[in-house]
Amino acid sequence: MNTKTVFAVAATFGSLASFAMLDDASASKAAREVLARMTLEEKVLLTGGSGTMTLSAIPRVGIDKEWTMSDNSSTVRPQMNRWDWGYTKPRSANTKLPSLSALASTWDPEMARLHGEVLGAEMRDRGVDELLGPGVNIARTPLNGRNWEYLGEDPCLAAKMCVPMIRGVQSYDVAATVKHFCLNDQEWNRTKVDTHCDLRTLHEIYLPAFRAAVQEAEVLCVMTSYNKVDGIWASENKYLQTGILRDQWGFKGLLETDWGGQHSDSFSANNGGGIEMDRGDAIKHHFNPKNGKYPLLESVKAGRVSEATVDEMALHVLYVMAKTGFLTGAPRRAGERNTKKHQEIARRIGEESVVLAKNDKGVLPLDAKSVRKILVVGKNAANKQCHKGCSGEGNVPYEVTFVDGLKARLGDGVEIVLKPIPKEAAKKASKKELEDVERAGGHVEANAASEGADKGALDELKALALASDATIVFTGTELGYDGNMESEGRDRQNMLADPGEDESIAAILSWNAKNTVVISRAGTPVGYTWTDSAPTMLMSSYLGMEEGSALARVVFGDVNPSGKLCQTWPKRYEDTGVAQLGTYNGKEVVYNERFYVGYRWFDKKDIEPMFPFGHGLSYTKFDVSLSGVKGAKDGGWTVSAKVTNTGKVAGREVVQMYVAYPDAKVERCVKELRGFAKTKLLAPGESETVSIPLSVRDLAYFDELDHRFVTDAGRYEILVGTSSRAVRGRATVEVGAESRF
Ligand code: BGC
Repeated sequence: MNTKTVFAVAATFGSLASFAMLDDASASKAAREVLARMTLEEKVLLTGGSGTMTLSAIPRVGIDKEWTMSDNSSTVRPQMNRWDWGYTKPRSANTKLPSLSALASTWDPEMARLHGEVLGAEMRDRGVDELLGPGVNIARTPLNGRNWEYLGEDPCLAAKMCVPMIRGVQSYDVAATVKHFCLNDQEWNRTKVDTHCDLRTLHEIYLPAFRAAVQEAEVLCVMTSYNKVDGIWASENKYLQTGILRDQWGFKGLLETDWGGQHSDSFSANNGGGIEMDRGDAIKHHFNPKNGKYPLLESVKAGRVSEATVDEMALHVLYVMAKTGFLTGAPRRAGERNTKKHQEIARRIGEESVVLAKNDKGVLPLDAKSVRKILVVGKNAANKQCHKGCSGEGNVPYEVTFVDGLKARLGDGVEIVLKPIPKEAAKKASKKELEDVERAGGHVEANAASEGADKGALDELKALALASDATIVFTGTELGYDGNMESEGRDRQNMLADPGEDESIAAILSWNAKNTVVISRAGTPVGYTWTDSAPTMLMSSYLGMEEGSALARVVFGDVNPSGKLCQTWPKRYEDTGVAQLGTYNGKEVVYNERFYVGYRWFDKKDIEPMFPFGHGLSYTKFDVSLSGVKGAKDGGWTVSAKVTNTGKVAGREVVQMYVAYPDAKVERCVKELRGFAKTKLLAPGESETVSIPLSVRDLAYFDELDHRFVTDAGRYEILVGTSSRAVRGRATVEVGAESRF
């Protein structure tokens, strides 16, 4: 079938979401027609990369060009060279949106949809067919080097945010890839570590976002993780790949290994394994595009793998190619790149994600008109981040740092003085230190001893602070490989700020200088020691190329913050379940804390966190009350909450719905998030009643013996609030009979 005939097929079947997306039956038919005309060699060709980020063109059967992939979850990373990790020249530039930890902090599925649409549009403009994102691994430990790339600690939040994002990407006739499937919740020795997690925890905590991606968003691609699961590489694990992903969830799309995560040809293929991806010249198990050897083909010839298995693998690839219009030649939705609109969306998502953690004295927002001199303490306020983060990095047309954002917001008449936080120990790692980290599989305990703040530098800062109209301390983490930065391939060394920083910040706070504000910018919790004495604090994750504009607009009240934390901020690492149970290491990790992850652990142990999951204040005040619970036709309910803005400025509030289990027959958490809704922008005095659906399935736990979810008969308590620790209303619903799912 040539391109034109295939397009005729597509046109007959019609399109759904956009121009090219075919329904399942039509896509499968188109894929099967092409498969029927392929030789065994050609099918094997499709089961591995033809280069670092491509799959082979096979013009003989109408695949006229290579299928092109690109990282990541917040930008379309520049294209990679065929044989190595370098970028092709000229390096392309794309919009960089906030990281997924920021997106999750918006608690706004509409932001997720826009986020996805920007990526989809930029992919189409660049000619990229598959995005290697979103990442939906769970923030099990604050030390995970990639928490900034994921959607937080709660499976319900992650699921509800990844679905619209994936739909947004795929609405542009391209594929999204949900990754890393699964139990890749640390970077320490990620390519070798063996993880063990009981089935109930796996299904209740670590799989829901993947399941939602497959079943609700119809994600077209899934990437396996590097680690082992119960002694078997995730990329060869039949229970996960065939049992859950294909058979239980009905996934029809393309399964691929993480780059270099393939360990065999026949074992993997016979256990539901996906296609092999790696740096172009390192692909070796299925087909090596550089030396032209076909190990998988040899295995078929030797009878170790059946041709039917290879057919299935190739069919999954062709199915995705057909769905997106790549195979059929159907017109695909046109994209655009680096537009004003995309840059505004980047800024807006950032603004919506910023969390007002404390505003005890009403210092924020600052009044731009009364500020003539600002002291900014912390070099990260002027330090660009968009080009950092390994596969999470981008190449941007510009990047607005916080200092840039302040300058643009305040204009020339305002003096901005930038000083480092005294005694910052962000030293460059020596070659030897980096090698040590490598040997330890990406983890070395840092010596956290601090000599305290440098007295001379603090005296200078004090004089500057007292002579300024505002002092803004910019603390947190950086992306990268030095010291205690956040990055792929290694975890943070500890949960601490750099040595000396906490002492300096405590000193700055003690001066009571006019309008002192602390901004924490980090993708994962940091165990600051001074928060009790900080009356004014904003928290932000990595916000991409418009970070500075977004933060400046929040600081000066152009935007009223409405973000909520997507991770519990522990006071100290020792308070976390992973630390207390000693289940974190680089070899054999047992998820002993079970489903008590994040706030579930802090609730169970009654530990007070620094800031609870879901926390976030506003420049206005809201009255939130539970206004009704109505039974729905399908046996579920609709929970309504009335939100009234009782303050003086317009703002948005997030209503969070948790469920508790007074009649629990099995061990259950104190409470669990099961839904949420963000209001529109409410003017002072204005009210909105938001509705949150709650299904019978939302009440279920996973029954390991039956291998199904079950909701027992009995009473369930609904808690409605504005954080996991700020409950504003309660109601009880009753389930008459047990249901299984
Ligand atoms: C990362 C993936 C990424 C892939 C391709 C791996 O090292 O774990 O998230 O998509 O590289 O760059």
